[in-house]
Amino acid sequence: MYAIGISSGLKHGHHDGAAALMKDGQLIAAAEEERFTLAKHARAELPRGAIRYLLKQANIKIEDVSCICSPLKTYTNYDRRLRDYFEFQFGHSPKIELFDHHLCHAASTYYGSGFPEATVICFDFSGDSSSGVIYHVKGNDFKKISSFERENSLGLYYGMITQYLGYQMTNDEYKVMGLSSYGKPLYLDEFAKVLRPDGLGFRLAPELDKRRRDAEIYTSDFSTRQERIFTEHLEKLLGPRRLAGGPLDDRLRDIACSAQRQLEIVATHVVREAVKLTGCGDVCLAGGVALNCRMNMEIALESSVKRLYVPPVPNDAGVALGAAMLRSAEAGYSISTLDHAYWGPEYDPSYIKPILDRIGAKYETLDDPVERCLEDLLSEKTVGWFQGRMEFGPRALGNRSILADPRSAKVKDRINSTIKYREEFRPFCPSVLLDRQEKFFENTFEAPFMVVTFPVLPETAELVPGIVHVDNTARIQSVRSEHNPLYARLLEGFDRETSVPVLLNTSLNINEQPTVNAPLEAIHTYFCSGLDVLYLGPFRVTKPVAHG
Ligand SMILES: [Fe+2]
Repeated sequence: MYAIGISSGLKHGHHDGAAALMKDGQLIAAAEEERFTLAKHARAELPRGAIRYLLKQANIKIEDVSCICSPLKTYTNYDRRLRDYFEFQFGHSPKIELFDHHLCHAASTYYGSGFPEATVICFDFSGDSSSGVIYHVKGNDFKKISSFERENSLGLYYGMITQYLGYQMTNDEYKVMGLSSYGKPLYLDEFAKVLRPDGLGFRLAPELDKRRRDAEIYTSDFSTRQERIFTEHLEKLLGPRRLAGGPLDDRLRDIACSAQRQLEIVATHVVREAVKLTGCGDVCLAGGVALNCRMNMEIALESSVKRLYVPPVPNDAGVALGAAMLRSAEAGYSISTLDHAYWGPEYDPSYIKPILDRIGAKYETLDDPVERCLEDLLSEKTVGWFQGRMEFGPRALGNRSILADPRSAKVKDRINSTIKYREEFRPFCPSVLLDRQEKFFENTFEAPFMVVTFPVLPETAELVPGIVHVDNTARIQSVRSEHNPLYARLLEGFDRETSVPVLLNTSLNINEQPTVNAPLEAIHTYFCSGLDVLYLGPFRVTKPVAHG
């Protein structure tokens, strides 16, 4: 049975449309729609490019697909709209099956983990009338323990702070998290009034929610992320907000730090209480807030948590996967675990070469790009590394990556200023060989998706200044050869040459653009940035003037 799961944007609040294809419970392919529209988060888009990719990858027609599985169960006539959509765009609509948004999130992380039993918690903005849920899952039995009301939302809380600090809600939350490491938690008393633990959940101060307070203006929940979402009460509590682009000072850094700390306190409280109730210390997280890797670190450190799993797609792209998993499980198939994230398109050298020839690129063809790439890395070059299947999820994990020597502090500033064009306070992350990660990082467990932060061991931190955040943590990717042999070999080679089994790894894109999917986008990124070298499969591309 072929089942396609989708996540979609019906309105501007919706984002991260994606599609995933399963055959008899096994994942075949999955990708985010933004990689095809080239507009980050694919807001208010139903997946189209992603679905075409799935069909091509499996070499099937839409008529071969048994069902389209989607969240948004509570939306009026959504099944009819989807049927019309598929008939219009693809000439045929398979059967439409709708599920609850948070059940889809929960399924994506639970089945992905491979745990036989788990406490599954979804911390989200909102979807299908709630902002998250707690399940106790055994086998295929999802027992709902509790759900969080829409107005008590951790995603809304963090979105408010993101806006208050002058950033874009549902886009820049990771900037607040990065900034938080530069401050002190001096505003914790104030934040205890904003968000507080409450039983199995939490309470967000109702007077802060502008859409709720001004209900006569916001007669539905339709509002753009550019409109103000918090009331003036937040400014009474914290002082004046920052206008976008305004200067950052210690007060704002301390506010970011306190907001982050309060999120960690509340989320850890919920996990602790949930585990107490279920008696199961294997915890799976999902929902957009589970992209907060600093929060995930605190949850992993909670003593009642035995094992923690966070998928590569805790955000709304993951509900596409979860919906397909739920339908496949209902049909009696056992569901594959999600050990790696390489489910996107791959481009053969025979596809790439004519493109390079057509644009007159200067390149050499290598039997094995690893050794030449090591030479580049060791001479402090910044390297675009485009290999194999694209990652599913927001993190580049060694197939659509920019790589650099982590031992160099200045390479980090160079990537920020000449490639990414982004704020200097944003950290870069390490890929590290799984069997050697304990030498560099504390409290480690296998973390293949860059969604959990770990402390860097003081004795090794100075060896890798390029990937250590200001608070001496790093968001690691544990790499094992079974999942990405080429990338593991590159890390092995780097370790052989330097005794450091670590590479700086950031996504192959320019700031605010989606991570590249196809070769032409990689070439565009390369020539529009200060990136030194680009590897496209076996081809090593250089810039004739600057680096010939
Ligand atoms: Fe969600």
